[in-house]
Amino acid sequence: MGNDRAGLDEIETASIDELQALQLNRLKKTLNHAYTNSSVYKEKFDLHGVHPDDLKTLSDLSKFPFTTKKDLRENYPFGIFASPMNDIVRLHASSGTTGKPTVVAYTQNDINNWAHLGARSIYAAGGRRKDKVHISYGYGLFTGGLGAHYAAERLGCTVIPMGGGQTQKQVQLITDFDPDIIMVTPSYMLNIADEIKRQNIDTKELALRIGIFGAEPWSNMMRNDIESRMSMDAVDIYGLSEMMGPGVAQECIETKDGLTIWEDHFYPEIIDPITGEVLPDGSEGELVFTSLSKEAMPMIRYRTRDLTRLLPGSARTMRRMDKITGRSDDMLIIRGVNVFPTQIEEQIIRTDGLSPHYLIEVSKRGNMDTINIRVEVDANNDKQDHDILINKLTHNIKTFIGISASINIEAPFKLPRSQGKATRVIDNRL
Ligand code: DLL
Repeated sequence: MGNDRAGLDEIETASIDELQALQLNRLKKTLNHAYTNSSVYKEKFDLHGVHPDDLKTLSDLSKFPFTTKKDLRENYPFGIFASPMNDIVRLHASSGTTGKPTVVAYTQNDINNWAHLGARSIYAAGGRRKDKVHISYGYGLFTGGLGAHYAAERLGCTVIPMGGGQTQKQVQLITDFDPDIIMVTPSYMLNIADEIKRQNIDTKELALRIGIFGAEPWSNMMRNDIESRMSMDAVDIYGLSEMMGPGVAQECIETKDGLTIWEDHFYPEIIDPITGEVLPDGSEGELVFTSLSKEAMPMIRYRTRDLTRLLPGSARTMRRMDKITGRSDDMLIIRGVNVFPTQIEEQIIRTDGLSPHYLIEVSKRGNMDTINIRVEVDANNDKQDHDILINKLTHNIKTFIGISASINIEAPFKLPRSQGKATRVIDNRL
Protein backbone atom coordinates (compact mmCIF):
# COMPACT_ATOMS: atom_id res chain seq x y z
CA MET A 1 0.00 0.00 0.00
CA GLY A 2 1.69 3.18 -1.15
CA ASN A 3 0.82 6.66 -0.12
CA ASP A 4 0.33 7.77 -3.68
CA ARG A 5 -3.32 7.12 -4.16
CA ALA A 6 -4.08 7.39 -7.88
CA GLY A 7 -7.84 6.93 -7.64
CA LEU A 8 -10.45 4.73 -6.06
CA ASP A 9 -9.84 1.23 -4.71
CA GLU A 10 -11.24 -1.32 -7.17
CA ILE A 11 -13.75 -2.57 -4.62
CA GLU A 12 -15.34 0.90 -4.41
CA THR A 13 -16.81 0.43 -7.89
CA ALA A 14 -16.99 -3.40 -8.06
CA SER A 15 -20.33 -5.11 -8.65
CA ILE A 16 -22.58 -5.79 -5.67
CA ASP A 17 -22.02 -9.54 -6.25
CA GLU A 18 -18.27 -9.10 -5.95
CA LEU A 19 -18.66 -7.02 -2.83
CA GLN A 20 -20.98 -9.57 -1.22
CA ALA A 21 -18.68 -12.48 -2.10
CA LEU A 22 -15.82 -10.66 -0.39
CA GLN A 23 -18.00 -9.88 2.62
CA LEU A 24 -19.09 -13.50 3.01
CA ASN A 25 -15.55 -14.75 2.81
CA ARG A 26 -14.31 -12.19 5.35
CA LEU A 27 -17.28 -12.71 7.64
CA LYS A 28 -16.61 -16.46 7.89
CA LYS A 29 -12.98 -15.76 8.73
CA THR A 30 -13.93 -13.15 11.33
CA LEU A 31 -16.45 -15.41 13.09
CA ASN A 32 -13.89 -18.22 13.23
CA HIS A 33 -11.16 -15.90 14.45
CA ALA A 34 -13.39 -14.46 17.18
CA TYR A 35 -14.62 -17.90 18.29
CA THR A 36 -11.18 -19.48 18.33
CA ASN A 37 -9.17 -16.64 19.84
CA SER A 38 -11.46 -14.69 22.18
CA SER A 39 -12.90 -16.57 25.16
CA VAL A 40 -15.59 -13.89 25.43
CA TYR A 41 -16.93 -14.68 21.95
CA LYS A 42 -16.60 -18.44 22.47
CA GLU A 43 -18.73 -18.20 25.58
CA LYS A 44 -21.28 -15.91 23.93
CA PHE A 45 -21.68 -18.12 20.84
CA ASP A 46 -21.88 -21.33 22.93
CA LEU A 47 -24.47 -19.81 25.22
CA HIS A 48 -26.48 -18.73 22.20
CA GLY A 49 -26.15 -22.17 20.57
CA VAL A 50 -24.39 -20.95 17.42
CA HIS A 51 -21.12 -21.90 15.78
CA PRO A 52 -19.20 -20.03 13.03
CA ASP A 53 -20.02 -22.93 10.65
CA ASP A 54 -23.71 -21.98 10.92
CA LEU A 55 -23.03 -18.99 8.70
CA LYS A 56 -23.64 -19.98 5.08
CA THR A 57 -24.99 -16.68 3.75
CA LEU A 58 -24.68 -13.05 4.83
CA SER A 59 -28.20 -13.05 6.24
CA ASP A 60 -27.26 -15.94 8.60
CA LEU A 61 -25.42 -13.30 10.60
CA SER A 62 -28.73 -12.53 12.33
CA LYS A 63 -28.42 -15.88 14.17
CA PHE A 64 -25.43 -14.60 16.10
CA PRO A 65 -25.65 -12.68 19.39
CA PHE A 66 -25.11 -8.94 19.64
CA THR A 67 -22.07 -7.40 21.29
CA THR A 68 -22.65 -4.32 23.44
CA LYS A 69 -20.65 -1.80 25.42
CA LYS A 70 -21.52 -3.90 28.47
CA ASP A 71 -19.46 -6.80 27.05
CA LEU A 72 -16.48 -4.48 26.77
CA ARG A 73 -17.00 -3.06 30.23
CA GLU A 74 -17.35 -6.49 31.83
CA ASN A 75 -14.11 -7.61 30.23
CA TYR A 76 -12.19 -4.44 31.01
CA PRO A 77 -9.45 -3.80 30.10
CA PHE A 78 -8.14 -6.49 27.72
CA GLY A 79 -10.47 -9.48 28.15
CA ILE A 80 -12.22 -9.42 24.77
CA PHE A 81 -9.03 -9.18 22.66
CA ALA A 82 -8.48 -11.93 20.09
CA SER A 83 -4.73 -11.36 19.56
CA PRO A 84 -1.93 -11.93 22.06
CA MET A 85 -0.66 -8.75 23.71
CA ASN A 86 2.63 -9.18 21.82
CA ASP A 87 0.85 -8.51 18.53
CA ILE A 88 -0.99 -5.45 19.77
CA VAL A 89 0.73 -2.23 18.74
CA ARG A 90 -1.80 0.40 19.90
CA LEU A 91 -4.54 0.95 22.45
CA HIS A 92 -7.20 3.66 22.42
CA ALA A 93 -10.01 4.29 24.87
CA SER A 94 -13.23 6.25 24.91
CA SER A 95 -14.19 7.91 28.14
CA GLY A 96 -17.83 6.89 28.36
CA THR A 97 -20.27 8.64 30.62
CA THR A 98 -20.16 6.16 33.47
CA GLY A 99 -17.29 4.38 35.13
CA LYS A 100 -14.46 2.79 33.26
CA PRO A 101 -13.38 3.67 29.74
CA THR A 102 -13.92 1.33 26.82
CA VAL A 103 -10.55 0.02 25.68
CA VAL A 104 -9.86 -0.91 22.05
CA ALA A 105 -6.79 -2.56 20.49
CA TYR A 106 -5.05 -2.74 17.12
CA THR A 107 -2.50 -5.04 15.52
CA GLN A 108 -0.14 -3.60 12.91
CA ASN A 109 -2.52 -4.89 10.20
CA ASP A 110 -5.43 -3.17 11.94
CA ILE A 111 -3.50 0.11 11.98
CA ASN A 112 -2.64 -0.33 8.28
CA ASN A 113 -6.27 -0.96 7.38
CA TRP A 114 -7.35 2.03 9.43
CA ALA A 115 -4.84 4.32 7.68
CA HIS A 116 -5.94 2.91 4.34
CA LEU A 117 -9.66 3.45 5.00
CA GLY A 118 -8.94 6.89 6.42
CA ALA A 119 -7.02 7.80 3.26
CA ARG A 120 -9.92 6.43 1.21
CA SER A 121 -12.26 8.63 3.26
CA ILE A 122 -10.24 11.81 2.75
CA TYR A 123 -10.04 11.01 -0.97
CA ALA A 124 -13.83 10.56 -1.11
CA ALA A 125 -14.14 13.90 0.69
CA GLY A 126 -12.24 15.50 -2.20
CA GLY A 127 -8.77 15.50 -0.61
CA ARG A 128 -5.77 14.71 -2.76
CA ARG A 129 -2.11 13.93 -2.32
CA LYS A 130 -0.11 17.08 -1.48
CA ASP A 131 -3.08 18.81 0.14
CA LYS A 132 -2.28 20.26 3.55
CA VAL A 133 -4.51 18.85 6.26
CA HIS A 134 -5.06 20.74 9.51
CA ILE A 135 -6.19 18.31 12.21
CA SER A 136 -8.08 19.76 15.17
CA TYR A 137 -9.50 16.49 16.47
CA GLY A 138 -8.00 15.74 19.87
CA TYR A 139 -4.90 13.55 19.94
CA GLY A 140 -4.48 10.91 22.64
CA LEU A 141 -6.76 8.11 23.72
CA PHE A 142 -9.56 9.56 21.54
CA THR A 143 -9.29 8.02 18.04
CA GLY A 144 -10.03 11.29 16.22
CA GLY A 145 -6.58 12.93 16.11
CA LEU A 146 -4.36 9.93 15.42
CA GLY A 147 -6.95 8.36 13.11
CA ALA A 148 -7.11 11.47 10.92
CA HIS A 149 -3.34 11.87 11.16
CA TYR A 150 -2.40 8.42 9.82
CA ALA A 151 -5.13 8.73 7.18
CA ALA A 152 -3.83 12.02 5.81
CA GLU A 153 -0.22 10.82 5.84
CA ARG A 154 -1.22 7.64 4.03
CA LEU A 155 -2.88 9.70 1.32
CA GLY A 156 0.37 11.61 0.91
CA CYS A 157 -0.85 14.88 2.40
CA THR A 158 1.09 17.29 4.58
CA VAL A 159 -0.28 16.93 8.09
CA ILE A 160 -0.58 19.80 10.56
CA PRO A 161 -1.17 17.93 13.85
CA MET A 162 -2.70 20.82 15.78
CA GLY A 163 -5.07 18.85 18.03
CA GLY A 164 -7.96 20.40 19.96
CA GLY A 165 -7.99 23.69 21.88
CA GLN A 166 -5.95 26.93 21.68
CA THR A 167 -8.46 28.48 19.31
CA GLN A 168 -6.43 31.61 18.54
CA LYS A 169 -3.46 29.48 17.60
CA GLN A 170 -5.68 27.34 15.38
CA VAL A 171 -6.60 30.48 13.46
CA GLN A 172 -2.99 31.63 13.27
CA LEU A 173 -1.91 28.31 11.72
CA ILE A 174 -4.88 28.31 9.36
CA THR A 175 -3.90 31.75 8.08
CA ASP A 176 -0.11 31.17 8.03
CA PHE A 177 0.13 27.54 6.83
CA ASP A 178 -2.70 27.68 4.27
CA PRO A 179 -4.20 24.23 4.85
CA ASP A 180 -6.56 22.99 2.11
CA ILE A 181 -8.52 20.72 4.45
CA ILE A 182 -9.59 20.90 8.09
CA MET A 183 -10.65 17.86 10.12
CA VAL A 184 -12.51 18.79 13.30
CA THR A 185 -15.81 18.31 15.10
CA PRO A 186 -18.51 20.52 13.59
CA SER A 187 -19.13 22.22 16.94
CA TYR A 188 -15.47 23.14 17.33
CA MET A 189 -15.47 24.36 13.71
CA LEU A 190 -18.14 26.88 14.75
CA ASN A 191 -15.93 28.02 17.57
CA ILE A 192 -12.95 28.44 15.23
CA ALA A 193 -15.20 30.24 12.71
CA ASP A 194 -16.20 32.74 15.41
CA GLU A 195 -12.54 33.44 16.14
CA ILE A 196 -11.85 33.91 12.41
CA LYS A 197 -14.70 36.41 12.28
CA ARG A 198 -13.49 38.17 15.45
CA GLN A 199 -10.13 38.72 13.76
CA ASN A 200 -11.91 40.16 10.70
CA ILE A 201 -10.41 37.53 8.41
CA ASP A 202 -12.25 37.05 5.14
CA THR A 203 -12.84 33.29 4.79
CA LYS A 204 -12.79 33.64 0.99
CA GLU A 205 -9.13 34.59 1.31
CA LEU A 206 -8.28 31.35 3.15
CA ALA A 207 -6.91 28.32 1.29
CA LEU A 208 -9.36 26.03 3.13
CA ARG A 209 -11.44 24.13 0.59
CA ILE A 210 -12.90 21.19 2.49
CA GLY A 211 -14.00 20.48 6.06
CA ILE A 212 -14.28 16.82 7.14
CA PHE A 213 -16.53 16.88 10.17
CA GLY A 214 -17.66 14.12 12.48
CA ALA A 215 -17.51 12.52 15.94
CA GLU A 216 -20.89 14.03 16.86
CA PRO A 217 -24.30 14.44 15.23
CA TRP A 218 -24.78 17.55 13.08
CA SER A 219 -27.65 18.54 10.85
CA ASN A 220 -27.75 19.44 7.16
CA MET A 221 -28.74 22.95 8.23
CA MET A 222 -25.46 23.11 10.14
CA ARG A 223 -23.67 22.01 6.96
CA ASN A 224 -25.20 24.93 5.04
CA ASP A 225 -24.31 27.32 7.82
CA ILE A 226 -20.66 26.21 8.00
CA GLU A 227 -20.28 26.09 4.21
CA SER A 228 -21.45 29.65 3.76
CA ARG A 229 -19.53 31.04 6.71
CA MET A 230 -16.29 29.27 5.86
CA SER A 231 -16.60 29.38 2.05
CA MET A 232 -15.80 25.66 1.76
CA ASP A 233 -17.38 22.25 1.26
CA ALA A 234 -18.41 20.42 4.43
CA VAL A 235 -18.68 16.62 4.42
CA ASP A 236 -19.48 14.08 7.09
CA ILE A 237 -17.12 11.41 8.45
CA TYR A 238 -18.33 8.69 10.80
CA GLY A 239 -16.63 6.19 13.02
CA LEU A 240 -16.47 4.78 16.49
CA SER A 241 -13.60 3.46 18.57
CA GLU A 242 -15.13 0.01 18.95
CA MET A 243 -15.06 -0.54 15.18
CA MET A 244 -11.84 1.38 14.46
CA GLY A 245 -12.15 5.17 14.77
CA PRO A 246 -12.86 7.81 12.09
CA GLY A 247 -13.25 6.37 8.59
CA VAL A 248 -15.89 3.65 8.99
CA ALA A 249 -18.11 5.68 6.65
CA GLN A 250 -17.56 8.85 4.66
CA GLU A 251 -19.69 11.21 2.67
CA CYS A 252 -18.54 11.65 -0.94
CA ILE A 253 -18.06 15.26 -1.97
CA GLU A 254 -19.65 14.79 -5.39
CA THR A 255 -23.02 13.74 -3.94
CA LYS A 256 -23.18 14.91 -0.29
CA ASP A 257 -26.05 12.48 0.15
CA GLY A 258 -25.18 10.57 3.30
CA LEU A 259 -22.15 8.48 4.19
CA THR A 260 -20.78 5.60 2.14
CA ILE A 261 -20.04 2.72 4.51
CA TRP A 262 -16.74 1.00 3.76
CA GLU A 263 -18.61 -2.28 3.56
CA ASP A 264 -15.59 -4.32 2.54
CA HIS A 265 -14.42 -3.89 6.17
CA PHE A 266 -17.63 -3.26 8.15
CA TYR A 267 -20.88 -5.13 7.58
CA PRO A 268 -23.88 -2.98 8.57
CA GLU A 269 -27.32 -4.01 9.78
CA ILE A 270 -30.23 -1.90 11.00
CA ILE A 271 -32.22 -3.38 13.85
CA ASP A 272 -35.30 -2.49 15.82
CA PRO A 273 -33.68 -1.18 19.02
CA ILE A 274 -36.40 -2.74 21.18
CA THR A 275 -36.86 -6.21 19.65
CA GLY A 276 -33.42 -6.62 18.04
CA GLU A 277 -35.06 -7.74 14.80
CA VAL A 278 -33.17 -6.95 11.57
CA LEU A 279 -35.05 -4.35 9.51
CA PRO A 280 -35.01 -4.02 5.71
CA ASP A 281 -32.81 -1.36 4.09
CA GLY A 282 -34.49 2.04 4.18
CA SER A 283 -35.99 1.56 7.69
CA GLU A 284 -34.92 3.82 10.58
CA GLY A 285 -33.34 1.93 13.42
CA GLU A 286 -30.18 1.20 15.36
CA LEU A 287 -26.98 0.71 13.41
CA VAL A 288 -25.15 -2.56 14.11
CA PHE A 289 -21.70 -3.34 12.71
CA THR A 290 -19.67 -6.50 12.27
CA SER A 291 -15.99 -6.02 11.51
CA LEU A 292 -14.70 -7.97 8.51
CA SER A 293 -10.94 -7.54 8.80
CA LYS A 294 -10.12 -6.67 12.40
CA GLU A 295 -7.57 -8.88 14.15
CA ALA A 296 -6.97 -7.57 17.68
CA MET A 297 -10.59 -6.94 18.46
CA PRO A 298 -13.15 -8.43 16.08
CA MET A 299 -16.58 -6.96 16.75
CA ILE A 300 -19.55 -9.19 16.03
CA ARG A 301 -22.88 -7.42 15.66
CA TYR A 302 -21.82 -4.44 17.77
CA ARG A 303 -24.78 -2.29 18.78
CA THR A 304 -23.69 1.31 18.15
CA ARG A 305 -26.86 2.90 19.62
CA ASP A 306 -26.67 5.32 16.66
CA LEU A 307 -29.93 5.78 14.79
CA THR A 308 -30.02 5.99 11.00
CA ARG A 309 -31.13 4.05 7.91
CA LEU A 310 -29.31 2.23 5.11
CA LEU A 311 -29.60 3.56 1.58
CA PRO A 312 -28.44 2.09 -1.74
CA GLY A 313 -24.99 3.06 -3.05
CA SER A 314 -24.75 6.22 -5.17
CA ALA A 315 -21.21 7.48 -5.78
CA ARG A 316 -19.84 4.04 -4.82
CA THR A 317 -21.04 0.41 -4.88
CA MET A 318 -21.26 0.28 -1.09
CA ARG A 319 -24.45 1.24 0.70
CA ARG A 320 -24.81 4.59 2.36
CA MET A 321 -26.19 5.53 5.75
CA ASP A 322 -28.24 8.61 6.29
CA LYS A 323 -26.82 11.30 8.57
CA ILE A 324 -27.07 10.02 12.15
CA THR A 325 -30.22 11.43 13.76
CA GLY A 326 -28.71 10.90 17.21
CA ARG A 327 -27.85 8.21 19.69
CA SER A 328 -30.70 6.33 21.29
CA ASP A 329 -29.31 7.53 24.67
CA ASP A 330 -29.68 11.16 23.54
CA MET A 331 -33.32 10.84 22.60
CA LEU A 332 -35.55 13.06 24.71
CA ILE A 333 -39.17 12.13 25.20
CA ILE A 334 -41.13 15.30 25.77
CA ARG A 335 -44.77 14.57 26.53
CA GLY A 336 -44.69 11.48 24.39
CA VAL A 337 -42.83 13.03 21.44
CA ASN A 338 -39.37 11.69 20.61
CA VAL A 339 -36.92 14.54 20.05
CA PHE A 340 -33.24 14.64 19.11
CA PRO A 341 -30.95 17.63 19.66
CA THR A 342 -30.21 17.79 15.90
CA GLN A 343 -33.91 18.47 15.21
CA ILE A 344 -33.82 21.45 17.54
CA GLU A 345 -30.51 22.54 15.97
CA GLU A 346 -32.19 22.66 12.55
CA GLN A 347 -34.91 24.95 13.81
CA ILE A 348 -32.40 27.23 15.53
CA ILE A 349 -30.28 27.59 12.40
CA ARG A 350 -33.26 28.31 10.19
CA THR A 351 -34.30 31.16 12.51
CA ASP A 352 -32.59 34.34 11.28
CA GLY A 353 -30.98 36.30 14.07
CA LEU A 354 -29.92 33.29 16.16
CA SER A 355 -26.44 31.76 16.31
CA PRO A 356 -25.93 27.98 16.11
CA HIS A 357 -24.67 27.92 19.74
CA TYR A 358 -27.28 26.27 21.94
CA LEU A 359 -27.82 24.16 25.02
CA ILE A 360 -30.91 22.11 25.84
CA GLU A 361 -31.93 21.77 29.49
CA VAL A 362 -34.38 19.06 30.45
CA SER A 363 -36.20 19.20 33.77
CA LYS A 364 -39.17 17.66 35.47
CA ARG A 365 -42.22 19.64 36.50
CA GLY A 366 -44.49 17.33 38.47
CA ASN A 367 -44.30 14.16 36.43
CA MET A 368 -43.95 16.06 33.17
CA ASP A 369 -40.65 16.47 31.30
CA THR A 370 -40.04 20.01 30.10
CA ILE A 371 -37.31 21.50 27.96
CA ASN A 372 -35.69 24.87 28.00
CA ILE A 373 -33.52 25.92 25.08
CA ARG A 374 -30.76 28.41 25.67
CA VAL A 375 -29.54 29.91 22.44
CA GLU A 376 -27.25 32.83 21.67
CA VAL A 377 -28.34 35.70 19.54
CA ASP A 378 -26.27 36.14 16.36
CA ALA A 379 -23.24 38.28 17.26
CA ASN A 380 -23.51 40.18 13.94
CA ASN A 381 -27.14 40.90 14.38
CA ASP A 382 -27.64 41.28 18.14
CA LYS A 383 -29.99 44.25 18.12
CA GLN A 384 -32.95 42.03 17.27
CA ASP A 385 -35.98 42.09 19.52
CA HIS A 386 -35.66 39.01 21.73
CA ASP A 387 -39.42 38.51 22.00
CA ILE A 388 -39.68 38.24 18.23
CA LEU A 389 -36.85 35.68 18.14
CA ILE A 390 -38.46 33.67 20.92
CA ASN A 391 -41.81 33.69 19.14
CA LYS A 392 -40.28 32.58 15.85
CA LEU A 393 -38.32 29.71 17.40
CA THR A 394 -41.19 28.56 19.62
CA HIS A 395 -43.47 28.53 16.61
CA ASN A 396 -41.03 26.58 14.41
CA ILE A 397 -40.33 24.01 17.11
CA LYS A 398 -44.05 23.51 17.70
CA THR A 399 -44.78 23.26 13.96
CA PHE A 400 -41.88 21.09 12.81
CA ILE A 401 -41.15 18.96 15.88
CA GLY A 402 -44.48 19.07 17.69
CA ILE A 403 -43.34 20.06 21.17
CA SER A 404 -43.59 23.13 23.36
CA ALA A 405 -40.27 24.44 24.59
CA SER A 406 -39.35 27.46 26.65
CA ILE A 407 -36.57 29.58 25.21
CA ASN A 408 -33.90 31.82 26.67
CA ILE A 409 -32.04 34.14 24.35
CA GLU A 410 -28.48 34.63 25.57
CA ALA A 411 -25.93 37.31 24.75
CA PRO A 412 -23.19 36.34 22.25
CA PHE A 413 -20.44 34.12 23.76
CA LYS A 414 -22.50 33.44 26.91
CA LEU A 415 -22.76 29.67 26.42
CA PRO A 416 -19.81 27.31 26.92
CA ARG A 417 -17.89 26.61 23.71
CA SER A 418 -16.95 23.15 22.46
CA GLN A 419 -13.35 22.19 21.76
CA GLY A 420 -14.27 18.66 20.73
CA LYS A 421 -17.55 16.85 21.11
CA ALA A 422 -20.18 19.37 22.21
CA THR A 423 -22.47 18.81 25.19
CA ARG A 424 -25.92 19.58 23.82
CA VAL A 425 -28.16 18.43 26.65
CA ILE A 426 -28.08 19.09 30.38
CA ASP A 427 -30.44 16.70 32.07
CA ASN A 428 -31.65 18.06 35.39
CA ARG A 429 -33.95 15.09 35.91
CA LEU A 430 -31.17 12.81 37.11
O1 DLL B 1 -15.93 9.83 17.61
C1 DLL B 1 -14.51 8.58 16.10
C2 DLL B 1 -14.49 9.74 15.17
C3 DLL B 1 -13.50 10.71 15.31
C4 DLL B 1 -15.40 9.84 14.13
C5 DLL B 1 -13.46 11.76 14.44
C6 DLL B 1 -15.35 10.89 13.26
C7 DLL B 1 -14.39 11.86 13.40
P1 DLL B 1 -15.94 7.62 19.63
O2 DLL B 1 -15.35 8.65 20.52
O3 DLL B 1 -15.81 6.19 20.02
O4 DLL B 1 -15.30 7.71 18.20
O5 DLL B 1 -17.46 7.99 19.44
C8 DLL B 1 -18.26 7.28 18.55
O6 DLL B 1 -19.57 9.25 18.07
O7 DLL B 1 -21.09 6.03 18.00
C9 DLL B 1 -21.56 8.31 17.25
O8 DLL B 1 -22.50 8.35 18.30
C10 DLL B 1 -20.71 9.56 17.29
N1 DLL B 1 -20.29 9.92 15.93
C11 DLL B 1 -19.11 9.70 15.33
N2 DLL B 1 -19.12 10.22 14.07
C12 DLL B 1 -20.35 10.76 13.88
C13 DLL B 1 -20.99 11.44 12.80
C14 DLL B 1 -15.32 8.80 17.36
N3 DLL B 1 -20.37 11.70 11.65
C15 DLL B 1 -19.63 7.89 18.50
N4 DLL B 1 -22.28 11.82 12.98
C16 DLL B 1 -20.54 7.21 17.50
C17 DLL B 1 -22.93 11.58 14.13
C18 DLL B 1 -21.10 10.56 15.07
N5 DLL B 1 -22.38 10.96 15.18
